Amino acid sequence: MESGFVVFVSILTLLVTNHTSLPDAESLQITVVLLNWSRFANVLKITSNICENLLDDVVHNIIVWNNNPTPISFSDFTHTTCPESRLNIVNSPSNIYFEARYIACARAVTTHCFIQDDDYLVHPNIIRALAARMVNGNMPSIHLQPPDEMFTSEMRELVKASNLHTTFAWLGYGTIILRTQAAEFLSLLEKLQLSKEEHEMADNYFTILSNRMPERWFDPGIPLGGGVAFTVGTEGEERNNRHILRAAELLDQIVRDNDTNLPYVQLESLPTNADVRVLTVPCQRDLCILQSSIELLPDLLDTPITAATDILDVEKRRLLELGEMRKRQYLDFPPSNAVDGRYETVFRSPADAKRGDWIMLDLVRMAPSDNLVLEMVVGGEMAIILQNVALEVSQNGNKWAGLMEF
Ligand SMILES: *[C@@H]1O[C@H](CO)[C@@H](O)[C@H](O)[C@H]1NC(C)=O
Ligand SMILES: *[C@@H]1O[C@H](CO)[C@@H](O)[C@H](O)[C@H]1NC(C)=O
Repeated sequence: MESGFVVFVSILTLLVTNHTSLPDAESLQITVVLLNWSRFANVLKITSNICENLLDDVVHNIIVWNNNPTPISFSDFTHTTCPESRLNIVNSPSNIYFEARYIACARAVTTHCFIQDDDYLVHPNIIRALAARMVNGNMPSIHLQPPDEMFTSEMRELVKASNLHTTFAWLGYGTIILRTQAAEFLSLLEKLQLSKEEHEMADNYFTILSNRMPERWFDPGIPLGGGVAFTVGTEGEERNNRHILRAAELLDQIVRDNDTNLPYVQLESLPTNADVRVLTVPCQRDLCILQSSIELLPDLLDTPITAATDILDVEKRRLLELGEMRKRQYLDFPPSNAVDGRYETVFRSPADAKRGDWIMLDLVRMAPSDNLVLEMVVGGEMAIILQNVALEVSQNGNKWAGLMEF
């Protein structure tokens, strides 16, 4: 098992389970959608990685959408191990930017799509973990977020009364979505008669307009480099903020009109006091998912807001309130450090834990057995704490049995 825990806790339960199971081989579930943007070498690396590792289980096929006027063909992929039958190349008549992801997904033959940019490599086991949770859970999407993006996304969470409940999250770090979501989202963009540029910047609209708190998992990602990302820099940031505010403005209007005939937007009220917030991290190498009830940030949702268009102001206010120290702590010791397979990084909770807090390791498909070895690398202070920890094991996530000693 992977390593790197320093959790300042007093009384804590450690749980090991395999309650998420992988979809079986015959129910291939995912279409991977890649845009050829500016880094074709990376597109080749990503497709190779997927073809070598995932074609026999969770990936059905890959769609490479070429937004560039120079056409590409299968011969450009001959150095990958991708069979021609599993690689679909679409030469777009024009550059339609990010909307291409949703168009490609809406055309998929599978029920799920995995979307990502061309500057990150996502470990195959993480894609397996996402697939397993989508099939077992009841979520429209799961977004991988590196700690800084997760932080921003949390600072932008908006809840007002029971009918506004949203935030912003990118899709480019790796996101699994239901095909039906892609289709409904495109139909919403049509109905709202968005401009050409708004269609192109579809990623800025996807989470905000859903009016849901999207499921987000910590994942540092493996940067591939090469070229300048479209969304960075002052110009990129200015453009993003403009579209985020536009999405918020549209959502405010929809909520005000209570326009329940629109697709995609979740207008039904949600319970006001949200469930216990659970943090989720897929392991970087092994197939497993770490989850915990440990709180990383104080409850931000009581910040007063008047409308979704407050999103960027609310973020600034919360940041001031929280302070640089807490932000640094969040970014330097995120829970993804616990399962990245590296000894030199650790997860450190911001405060002592409370009785009842738990950390759970979901082994996804590996049944906990007599042979299971759970090896945790911890600091000296944690070793003492571990003597007061309860360790429980479960086959299904419902019935738990205590284990003897450490
Ligand atoms: C992919 O996109 C890039 C940038 O838009 C372009 O330069 C390139 O010609 C396209 N196709 C290939 C095979 O690289
Ligand atoms: C919105 O409309 C639905 C159905 O038309 C209704 O049940 C619901 O109460 C309305 N919500 C609000 C906040 O008015």
